[in-house]
Amino acid sequence: MTEMNKWADSDHKWQIIEERKYMWHPSQIERLASVIGLSPGMAVADIGCGLGYLGWTYWKYFGQGGSYTGIDCSSELVLEATENSKFWSEGGIVSFVTGDCYRIPLADNTVDVSMCQTLLQHLEFPEKAIQEMVRITKPGGTVVCKDMGACPRIQHRH
Ligand SMILES: C[S@@+](CC[C@H](N)C(=O)[O-])C[C@H]1O[C@@H](n2cnc3c(N)ncnc32)[C@H](O)[C@@H]1O
Repeated sequence: MTEMNKWADSDHKWQIIEERKYMWHPSQIERLASVIGLSPGMAVADIGCGLGYLGWTYWKYFGQGGSYTGIDCSSELVLEATENSKFWSEGGIVSFVTGDCYRIPLADNTVDVSMCQTLLQHLEFPEKAIQEMVRITKPGGTVVCKDMGACPRIQHRH
């Protein structure tokens, strides 16, 4: 796990923020929330969360009575994401934790949905991260991996 990685430098952060303004059409966000079955009260984990894009984008679907945990290996991004979340979490249960996707710091079967976006495509062993996401997800829950380019988009229910 790296304490400071390239995603925390100002160029990459700027790129991430700009890209995410246009990455998904609102109808695609709506559609994915519906396919996953996101609903109030759910516990959601976001692995490789960066600044917490998946949190602020999907919070309206599950945040009431639910919880969001963002995990990222950059403690700097975790700090910034925590600050930003004050503007979208509406006083709900939101936390950001520094951690490695190969050893996610959550117990087995703790979340209803684990998600990642543009994480797997940057990993040497993406399947290990998926195994970890499956481990932390309750039986019957959903693991959603959104990636671009070479890495296929995977959705798996177990
Ligand atoms: C392209 S960014 C995507 C951030 C966020 N998911 C989004 O879509 O805005 C990739 C993120 O994965 C994180 N990351 C890379 N390797 C990781 C690892 N081994 N464990 C946890 N996070 C990792 C980086 O710090 C970075 O924030």
